[in-house]
Amino acid sequence: MSARPCLHFTPPEGFMNDPNGLVQSNGLWHLFYQWNPTGMEAGNQHWGHAISRNLYNWNYLPVALLPNEDGGLMFSGSAVVDKSNTTGFFKDSQGRIPTNTDGRIVLIYSTHYDDRETQNIAYSPDGGITFIKYENNPVIDLNESQFRDPKVFWHEETNHWVMVVALAQKFRIAIFRSPNLKNWEKVSEFGPAGFTGYQYECPDLFRLPIENTEDHRWVMVVSINPGSPMSGGSVTQYFIGDFDGITFTPIDNMARIFDYGNDCYAGQTYSNVLNGKVISMSWASNWNYTNDAPAKKYRGMLTCPRELSLRSMPLNPETQELVLVQRPCNIETLKHPLSEPAPLALQTVSEFPPTFVCGTRFYLCATMPASASESEKLEFLRLRWSATSDVLDSKQYIEIGYRFSDGAVYIDRGSCEASWKNPLYPERCISSLPPIVLEDKLLVDLGILMDHSIVEVYGNHGGKVFTNAYCFSEGSEDSPLKYYHLELPKAAKLVKANMLPLFTRVAKYCRKWKLV
Ligand code: FRU
Repeated sequence: MSARPCLHFTPPEGFMNDPNGLVQSNGLWHLFYQWNPTGMEAGNQHWGHAISRNLYNWNYLPVALLPNEDGGLMFSGSAVVDKSNTTGFFKDSQGRIPTNTDGRIVLIYSTHYDDRETQNIAYSPDGGITFIKYENNPVIDLNESQFRDPKVFWHEETNHWVMVVALAQKFRIAIFRSPNLKNWEKVSEFGPAGFTGYQYECPDLFRLPIENTEDHRWVMVVSINPGSPMSGGSVTQYFIGDFDGITFTPIDNMARIFDYGNDCYAGQTYSNVLNGKVISMSWASNWNYTNDAPAKKYRGMLTCPRELSLRSMPLNPETQELVLVQRPCNIETLKHPLSEPAPLALQTVSEFPPTFVCGTRFYLCATMPASASESEKLEFLRLRWSATSDVLDSKQYIEIGYRFSDGAVYIDRGSCEASWKNPLYPERCISSLPPIVLEDKLLVDLGILMDHSIVEVYGNHGGKVFTNAYCFSEGSEDSPLKYYHLELPKAAKLVKANMLPLFTRVAKYCRKWKLV
């Protein structure tokens, strides 16, 4: 198998970090990303660009934003569709810009110099292929050196654009508003709040429905780096509250963790989504070790697209709280054409023939009792691989497990890569997963999305999520590894399980592009 994931977006080459400018326009999903096309480490930041019809099959488009001629780098930001042409960009004096209203894409991004960061805009004259930087940039300059990552959305009730942007090393999220994306007024600040770490980055603010109610709440997301309370590295936290167009007011003083794995950072949500769903993607790596992790042709990937909502659930027998729920978007549409989703023979070891290309890419859903007498620790599944056919003796594997004794889920990637160690690369992540009541029983439910080089675990229908990247020392993009073996529990009494083999093609360049 090749190490390049296919269900998860990767850049063609070079170094990628944050997803930027996530926007749906004319039915297409645009994905921009922090990209260094000339090196395998962060630096020389451009905005790369890709489009997709289903959020999984991506086509690379030409670079959207190049560094400025004076050396200013293109740091993170967002995108909106300026339907009613508040900017005036979408009509020249002869009314010639042909873009339809849904193709009026404006990018809002930070320009980075060593001593200054400012907020800037660029617009597309052709429905989202090329971008023209606004001649009067920057649109916000506070004479600050740590001021970045604007996320902008239209606030219907107050008829304004709203921007959340990090005053990174002051631990504050500044909130601005504007009628036209060009003139901005600062209206409030949020923070310091929750974990601070070294600095705040990549804020987001959006409204989410509460499951099984007619109610909504606002969610403020703040990434911090370094300073994860779990591993010391990059991590994302969120706050639940209300927003009136000016001020974000949290409902409590709890900082909640977005993802309990080691590799989920700088996420952002899509704007202009047709059906109103809230969909987010994050960078699946960690600044603590990203520049050092084994890589040849490209470095970096994104989490799969996740649909977000809120759920009221018990954290312990005395406290019921709202938590973020994340589910992989439309994962069943990626079912491998040669396979049927089938209940597994769970008491046996399953082995996929080497030619069965989807054997290491799957979504496995399993429900089990919250306690078990016969086994203290359940190695829930192990995926082994080897360059030779003696795969069962291979010492290389990734393990996802559930420990009944602690009620905890873990991903152990310590046996994946024999030759690379880094003291800041945690070999495992672990966190409790309180059981839920399903059909009158106390159960634990896991959804495991396995792709090459990355696994995402969705606990209790998305109530707690873990994302870990992992490395191979055998096989590569060019020399596929033929032998792998999936082990499933022999002792565990699973209540239900379902294996969905998945496949999609990896991103590719498309030669012809015309969006309007
Ligand atoms: C987050 C981040 C952002 C910045 C970008 C630079 O990962 O540090 O704050 O805009 O990456 O690539």
